[in-house]
Amino acid sequence: MKTPIIIDTDPGIDDIVAITAALFSKELDVKLITTIGGNVGIENTTRNALDLLTFLGKDIPVAKGAGEPLVSKPRTATHVHGTTGVGEYRFEAQANAALLSEENAIVAMKNHIVESPEPVTLVPIGPLTNIALLFKTFPETLDNIEEIVLMGGAAAGGNATPVAEFNIFADPHAARIVFDTAIPIVMCGLDVTRLTSITYEDVEKLKGMGQAGEMVYDMLDYYKHTYSDGKVTIHDLCTIFYVTRPDLFTVERANIKVVTEGEAAGCTITNFTDDGNVSVCVGADVAEFRKEFISVFEGIF
Ligand code: BDR
Ligand code: CA
Repeated sequence: MKTPIIIDTDPGIDDIVAITAALFSKELDVKLITTIGGNVGIENTTRNALDLLTFLGKDIPVAKGAGEPLVSKPRTATHVHGTTGVGEYRFEAQANAALLSEENAIVAMKNHIVESPEPVTLVPIGPLTNIALLFKTFPETLDNIEEIVLMGGAAAGGNATPVAEFNIFADPHAARIVFDTAIPIVMCGLDVTRLTSITYEDVEKLKGMGQAGEMVYDMLDYYKHTYSDGKVTIHDLCTIFYVTRPDLFTVERANIKVVTEGEAAGCTITNFTDDGNVSVCVGADVAEFRKEFISVFEGIF
């Protein structure tokens, strides 16, 4: 049986790669895509999700979520992803507006989760505002969630600040709500996303691998401008590969506390302990991960 998942996302170049991998995975059944403001504003992230699905010919509903964090001021990462969120790439076809749900992201997630015959895996790859609002508004959804596999945080270090990763920094109050639930969480943070960076050589292989490969090549070619060591970090892809290929990763259990205010806001204080509710990805089979990345684009159009 395929694993039913909901992806909550702020596309975003690495989000685009992660969603593409999920949509063509034989192991996953993507039920819903919900959008969140993050890398760029909510109008752009929603349009990018609709454009991508139209381009890939996938009929998956998209529900628009929160445009702003719960408490802190909105932040973007246009310096990484460009002003539209997809570098200089432009989708040619008119997006299929029929994919946009009339329900907002919170209600759409709630309906999918409570009506699902199987527990659903949540895959948040942007700031956690929608997920926090879901748990506060519809706590009954917690009973039918298998686990949360998220990109965010770090046991050590940061990218938005020296101690905070972007998705957590962008809405630390929401992140605290999510990490404080008793639900099993897998944290694909900077510890593992940086480790599994993809070499420029591998990125080059996408050229000539069909339309999806060319599209991702174009975006990653832009994304390179923030890297100087010959590799790009496709953070969000780790979550999808964790769900489809958990054997690629090593995890350690921890409890996570999120700092919400002050100089260290967005820091995920990681206390490694066997009875923690969070599995922190601390290692990966990098060679296999890179092969898996290339294989996403083999044989798709
Ligand atoms: C995370 O922040 C965003 O810029 C990326 O899409 C990823 O989800 C990495 O810190
Ligand atoms: Ca993201």
